[in-house]
Amino acid sequence: MKQSRREFLVVAGATVAAGVLPLPVLAAGKMKIGIIGSGNVGGAIGASWVRAGHEVMFSSLNIEHDKELAARLGGGARAGTPREAAAFGEVVMVSVPYHALPAVGKDVGDLLKGKVVIDTNNPFLARDGETGKWALDKGAGLASMELLPGARIVRAFNAIGAAKMGAAYQEPGKVGMPIASDDAKAVEIASRLIREVGYEPVLIGGLEKGKYLMPGQPFAGERSAEEIRKIAAGLS
Ligand SMILES: NC(=O)c1ccc[n+]([C@@H]2O[C@H](COP(=O)([O-])OP(=O)(O)OC[C@H]3O[C@@H](n4cnc5c(N)ncnc54)[C@H](OP(=O)(O)O)[C@@H]3O)[C@@H](O)[C@H]2O)c1
Repeated sequence: MKQSRREFLVVAGATVAAGVLPLPVLAAGKMKIGIIGSGNVGGAIGASWVRAGHEVMFSSLNIEHDKELAARLGGGARAGTPREAAAFGEVVMVSVPYHALPAVGKDVGDLLKGKVVIDTNNPFLARDGETGKWALDKGAGLASMELLPGARIVRAFNAIGAAKMGAAYQEPGKVGMPIASDDAKAVEIASRLIREVGYEPVLIGGLEKGKYLMPGQPFAGERSAEEIRKIAAGLS
């Protein structure tokens, strides 16, 4: 049913009154996004955000790789150091092997305080050693919060293989993206960016539930948003 302009303004006004930015505002305007870790996940998701019209700065330990990636993508893509990407981004995605997360916290943690940080990082014993064991014991969401104190963390892009991430925009909303966070405003901003990659975000709970978002855990694999909601309801 077509909405009249008056009806739209009433709905928008009620949304603002409820403390939520109205969708037309969120849907407009490009953002500056910093990416720390431009591998399988960072490269694929960053490319989708460039395609969506955002300014994206890629960073890693290999600036030459990031310059080549940015040149290949064109548009709003650029390369920088991790500190430059952390300073550049209104939103920053951190996507590194979990054993590197303490170093990222030391290198750029001061710049991430108060920023929305998308945490794709999953701990594994075999790959991440002592740090991985510590994070698995603590739970990945709470461990990331400890390593990046003051960041407004949203765990996302954890439970789906990177190989398909870059093509998700071709079938928008078909697959759901379970996310976990304690910060409602950060969820709102991250949700817009997740939709632009092609996934329908589903908040499954706070950061303490972030441990369920990884391979071998209940949310692993591609599912519809509806299926993810059912699994989340079964957890609580
Ligand atoms: N692959 C998947 O299917 C998948 C899916 C969901 C979530 N995840 C999780 O997401 C994270 C990234 O996975 P990935 O597959 O994209 O890994 P990846 O391909 O190995 O990429 C990791 C990136 O992190 C960079 N990096 C490493 N240490 C760094 C540091 N101290 N500072 C800045 N950058 C650093 C690497 O740079 P250099 O190349 O220069 O070392 C590389 O660009 C992991 O925690 C993974 O478990 C992976």
